[in-house]
Amino acid sequence: MRRGSAMAERNRTVRLARRPIGAVTRDDFIIADEARPVPGDNEIVVRVRYLSIDPAMRGWMNEGKSYVPPVALGDVMRALAVGEVVASNHDGFSPGDAVTGLFGVQRYAVSDGRDVERVDTERASLPCWIGGLGMPGMTAYFGLTDVGRPKKGETVVVSAASGAVGSLVGQIAKILGCRAVGIAGGEEKCRYLTEELGFDAAVDYKAGRLQADLVAATPDGIDVYFENVGGVILEAVLDRMNAFGRIPVCGLISVYNATEPQPGPHNLRSILVNRLKMQGFIVFDYRDRYREGVEALLNWHETGLLKFREDVRPGGVDAYPDMLNLLFSGGNFGKLVLEI
Ligand SMILES: NC(=O)c1ccc[n+]([C@@H]2O[C@H](COP(=O)([O-])OP(=O)(O)OC[C@H]3O[C@@H](n4cnc5c(N)ncnc54)[C@H](OP(=O)(O)O)[C@@H]3O)[C@@H](O)[C@H]2O)c1
Repeated sequence: MRRGSAMAERNRTVRLARRPIGAVTRDDFIIADEARPVPGDNEIVVRVRYLSIDPAMRGWMNEGKSYVPPVALGDVMRALAVGEVVASNHDGFSPGDAVTGLFGVQRYAVSDGRDVERVDTERASLPCWIGGLGMPGMTAYFGLTDVGRPKKGETVVVSAASGAVGSLVGQIAKILGCRAVGIAGGEEKCRYLTEELGFDAAVDYKAGRLQADLVAATPDGIDVYFENVGGVILEAVLDRMNAFGRIPVCGLISVYNATEPQPGPHNLRSILVNRLKMQGFIVFDYRDRYREGVEALLNWHETGLLKFREDVRPGGVDAYPDMLNLLFSGGNFGKLVLEI
């Protein structure tokens, strides 16, 4: 039935119309019907089913030097996604294959198969492959184990802790024998961390007692701070860092929509006196090791040690601008996924 109706279905695309200022609006994009692509030689066409909505997308819209070039004006907005191959002239893929790749914010994507991976829907659902087993999973796994390098018994603190990356960081820290403390917005998210995910403590940064609550949650100080947010949370954490602590800088979501330069932390002295290591990382640098990351996370997941939570929203590609903004208001609860 789905296949039959898909035959007549047109493509629908979200193209970047201009460089947004602050939070994105619908007018920053051109959302339109287009002809459905046909595969050329050695190409496939994928019907996208779920889009990964990521904070990094906001940065990809900006002009300027970064770890990837900005999305060009007029191009389909860049997005990781999962879907199924519906047409193939490529030896490596057949119609019906479930695949993940950078398919963009659109219903149908044409691809030469580069950086497209087949995924096993027997072992995990399609949305999992862009969540816990996808880019956020790899980010948590390699950012914590390779950059943070926590040792058994140490205290690991993570911000945006109930989100796609943060929720996994705390759980992996527990698996590695650490004390895990999450910082998140609101009582419900904090309760979820301690009662469902096994974090040792959670700090609600919206409750207005960030510093005092962080002190109470980290009686032995902080050895690893997995940074997702920046701003006042980073300042509060810097004051609690132990000597030779590590700060993997994964993200700085509090400034992605900023229209003015933001002040730096006032207490960088902590880095000096505590001999801290603060290191940024980008998950794509670990591409060659994804297989290792997927196996580790899948094994923990299958043995019940690691929980995934996807926040799957309906609405198709038209809902994209509103979906992206949810990440900046804390409106998502778990890995934000848009059903297409
Ligand atoms: N380096 C890399 O390769 C890489 C890869 C993936 C992701 N990242 C980064 O990892 C971070 C988390 O990404 P994610 O995909 O897992 O998103 P997420 O945590 O699922 O969603 C974003 C969350 O950030 C929190 N947040 C938003 N604005 C905030 C603010 N001003 N202050 C404090 N918290 C705020 C909100 O949670 P609350 O309700 O708790 O406020 C929101 O739910 C982002 O910074 C992202 O850029 C980096």
